[in-house]
Amino acid sequence: MKQKLTQLKEEFANEAAQIKGPEKLEALENKYLSRKSGLLTNIMKGIKEVAKEEVAEIGALANETKNYITSGLEELRASLGGGAASFDFTVPGKKPPVGHLHLATIAIREIESILEPLGFVRARHPDVEWDYYAFETLNMPGDHPARDDWETFFIDEAPIKMNLPEDSLKLVKEGRRLLTPHTSSIQVREMEKGVLPIRMMNISKCYRRQIDVSHVPMFHQFEGLVIDKDINITHLKGTIDYFVKKFFGEDRTIRLRPHHFQFTEPSFEVDISCGLCHGTGKLEDGSACRMCKEGWLELAGAGMVHPNVLKAGGIDPNVYSGFAFGWGVERCFSMKSGLNIDDLRLMYKNDLRFNEQF
Ligand code: PHE
Repeated sequence: MKQKLTQLKEEFANEAAQIKGPEKLEALENKYLSRKSGLLTNIMKGIKEVAKEEVAEIGALANETKNYITSGLEELRASLGGGAASFDFTVPGKKPPVGHLHLATIAIREIESILEPLGFVRARHPDVEWDYYAFETLNMPGDHPARDDWETFFIDEAPIKMNLPEDSLKLVKEGRRLLTPHTSSIQVREMEKGVLPIRMMNISKCYRRQIDVSHVPMFHQFEGLVIDKDINITHLKGTIDYFVKKFFGEDRTIRLRPHHFQFTEPSFEVDISCGLCHGTGKLEDGSACRMCKEGWLELAGAGMVHPNVLKAGGIDPNVYSGFAFGWGVERCFSMKSGLNIDDLRLMYKNDLRFNEQF
């Protein structure tokens, strides 16, 4: 049998060398390897007669012969090319993997679609912003300590002087540039356009020097700004209420806490009941909720536009009033019912196992 097997290898090698086109390959494969009537099977039928102590050796040789033929066939197939004959049109195609939008983009689109029917028009501002718009015109002049709350990334170490024409804004000429730490930087830019009333939304990137379970250094906020005659707190409250019910669902509740911002008066902090611990502050296993403090999550601020901000934008605070709110997009997304994301940093880790869940 040993001899027969060795001979089979030789025969196969000779015959394979004669093959010129891929159409003969299948017949060659059948001739040698067909389970029912292939030459290898036929030889192996004789195994019954082999002495016991030789069976293992013969078995190994048979395996080796089979591998030799199989890889010979593979090589031939590769060198001769598949050709039309071997292309099976009936095999289902392979679907290329299809991804989806980033979670922040999904949230931004949803936020936009909720605010748009209320008349908010999307506006944009530069990511690299002047100190003037981020702080100065928002009632935080010079070295006002409130600026420290924003953990800002500055681009310029010291104020820079630019040789702009005399009628350009003095403070822009002598300011510092920074990565905008909040979407509120757009407020006075919008007012300067000189078109009233204003009903705008700004949904864009913000940058702050913070990183932990509920902060990432590059994140998104969405800001709403309404300026018109006779705007009061009920308009602010009604708008926030409407948004929260649409975005989070009817079961989430809000509360307004008095707060302080330099650019709104009065100011509020809007809280929403936590979606991870359902407002209890404790997880199912009794441990303290990692996401919130005592069941409430802070969504960020809101308030009535401060008269000094209106003045900075060239608007008479005796005639016009307005409200503004500015919330974190990632934060809002993570608080959505049923999502239970307990670490915001996951949204930017590019881990497909996380992203594919949405
Ligand atoms: N800009 C504020 C922040 O980043 C939020 C805010 C926006 C507060 C508008 C009041 C009005 O925290």
